[in-house]
Amino acid sequence: MALIEIRNLYKSYTPKAKPVVYAVRDVHLSIRRGEILGLVGESGCGKSTLGKLILKLEQPTQGSVVFDGVDITGYSFNQMRPLRRRMQMVFQGSSQTFNPSYTLRQILREPLDNYHAEGGDEKEKWMASMLRKVGLDETYLSRYPHEMSGGQRQRCGIARALMLNPEFVVCDEAVSSVDYAIKNKILKLLVSLKKELSLTYLFISHDIAAVNRICDRIAVMYLGNLVEILPNINSSALHPYTQALLAATLPANPRERKAELVRFRENEDIPPQGCVFQNRCLYTKSLCQEARPMLEQKADRHFAACHYGL
Ligand SMILES: Nc1ncnc2c1ncn2[C@@H]1O[C@H](COP(=O)(O)OP(=O)(O)O)[C@@H](O)[C@H]1O
Ligand SMILES: [Mg+2]
Repeated sequence: MALIEIRNLYKSYTPKAKPVVYAVRDVHLSIRRGEILGLVGESGCGKSTLGKLILKLEQPTQGSVVFDGVDITGYSFNQMRPLRRRMQMVFQGSSQTFNPSYTLRQILREPLDNYHAEGGDEKEKWMASMLRKVGLDETYLSRYPHEMSGGQRQRCGIARALMLNPEFVVCDEAVSSVDYAIKNKILKLLVSLKKELSLTYLFISHDIAAVNRICDRIAVMYLGNLVEILPNINSSALHPYTQALLAATLPANPRERKAELVRFRENEDIPPQGCVFQNRCLYTKSLCQEARPMLEQKADRHFAACHYGL
């Protein structure tokens, strides 16, 4: 059974005097226990909204979210409480949300105190062991956020997310603000923590190289829609959008690059009907303007929402 199962999920916002914005549109997705599912797409395509919907930090406009077999779509704040500790989020600015006047001890104790977990001595031991897991040690407990480097703070953000022993972690641009050398170390750390603590990740990033390094499968989002789910990082993209996205951002491998396939058209209008990508796609045919392609299976565990699937 999948750990996360989302069906027919929509999230719309209605800004004043503007048309409705669909941040997430008709998304179906399952996340298996123990996998790292990458979620990629350009900025503003709905990745963070999807992550927050799964964690119930946002309420869906329509559709359902099932966590470990339990439909949590209509769960209230109080009903979510016991589940909340099982699902956590690490985000780009995690460490920027640290209270600057708190020591790391106070920062890490907060989730434990909220959930009345173990007593004082036990808490100290647990915080120290969590710090060692993320590559720091208990001497950091008395430090303030400004007394640490960006990479150390990001490790602390991960430690804080793991304090309550979650099973599922949404990593939202978790390595996007750190420089290259630190990024690689944090990615390695995330993978080793996943194994050690039997975690499942939704790894959201606009950085395809990072996604390629650690993810088992990759879901691709465009204007709120999932347009492709690749069964592994080596499978070749079927959707013209994914092809363009991968070609534009992957380290170039000249033999695999097909220059004529990798361009977008310059048109950001949201199509009123038909395929969401029709205005930018180089292969649009009349069918693409008329009917919206559904995400359908094109090969083993490989899904794409394209009438043609090049
Ligand atoms: N609270 C909100 N109110 C109105 N629009 C929002 C809100 N949150 C997100 N959006 C819009 O939803 C879309 C998706 O945003 P987001 O999920 O943050 O994208 P991403 O994480 O892929 O960059 C964007 O067009 C954004 O402007
Ligand atoms: Mg985002």
